[in-house]
Amino acid sequence: MKVVKTIAGLRAWRRAKSGRVVLVPTMGALHAGHAALIRSSRKLAGRRGVVVVSIFVNPIQFGPKEDFSTYPRPFRKDLSTCRAAGADAVFVPAAGEMYSADRSATVEESLLSRALCGRSRPGHFRGVCTIVAKLFLIVQPTHALFGEKDWQQLAILRRMARDLNFPVRVIGHPTVREPDGLATSSRNAYLTAAERAVAPRIHAALQSAALKKSPAAIEASARKAISAVPGARLGYVEAVDATSLQPLKSRESPGRLAVAVFLGKARLIDNIALPSLP
Ligand code: PAJ
Repeated sequence: MKVVKTIAGLRAWRRAKSGRVVLVPTMGALHAGHAALIRSSRKLAGRRGVVVVSIFVNPIQFGPKEDFSTYPRPFRKDLSTCRAAGADAVFVPAAGEMYSADRSATVEESLLSRALCGRSRPGHFRGVCTIVAKLFLIVQPTHALFGEKDWQQLAILRRMARDLNFPVRVIGHPTVREPDGLATSSRNAYLTAAERAVAPRIHAALQSAALKKSPAAIEASARKAISAVPGARLGYVEAVDATSLQPLKSRESPGRLAVAVFLGKARLIDNIALPSLP
């Protein structure tokens, strides 16, 4: 497995490849969810293809009060996770390699980015689109994998790739969960033992709410169940159209039930499918 720190080095390595190039963008602190994305990418790449994992804690997607400076950076452990999961190259640029001090161009998706998390995290998805567009231009992948755990991010990046004609297939990967249902996340480490014990109730609340019929009943059920979780403060719970992320009007088209919950120091997000009803 090759470790590449510079854009020029990555471009040179990539130029020699002719099969599929599958990119898995990450911010490191890799866990079972990331490893599943890498393993799945390895299968997708096939024998002739290559898998590139990028590890970069992207400063411009963090708000001023968010955890950029304290975000975990276990570099050596991350490299062994990449190696074990089948990565062929790991791209680990320094911040100065990716951003000039006087940078002034960004990439913005302006509709889906306003929904859900976008309301309380202004500029976050501009930061995500900008870094992923840059990675697409640097790595020039044929395919890129993103987790459904961040459903809004996946939907926005699909839209960005479509609208800006990036020649890459954006592929979603199902959410990896702990045995008790909690979505695996590096931010779960911020939970105390008591908070960790009740955290699986968020996913359980989504699952039981999804059994209701109307979008309004689904939202009300999830809201009630999450409000009953000790220490939980609801950011939002919304049934949205799976593609447009606009409020789900009926169950005739595929939806997504998405939630953000503050639990102690952690802000947890999760979502599940609301399949269309016949
Ligand atoms: P990060 O949070 O490190 O996540 C990297 C990828 O792993 C994302 O596609 C995310 O959806 C996926 N992922 C995280 N937890 C997962 C889980 N439990 N199951 C399945 N997939 C999971 O998302 C980012 O980084 C950044 O915003 C990035 C796209 C790299 C841009 O900076």
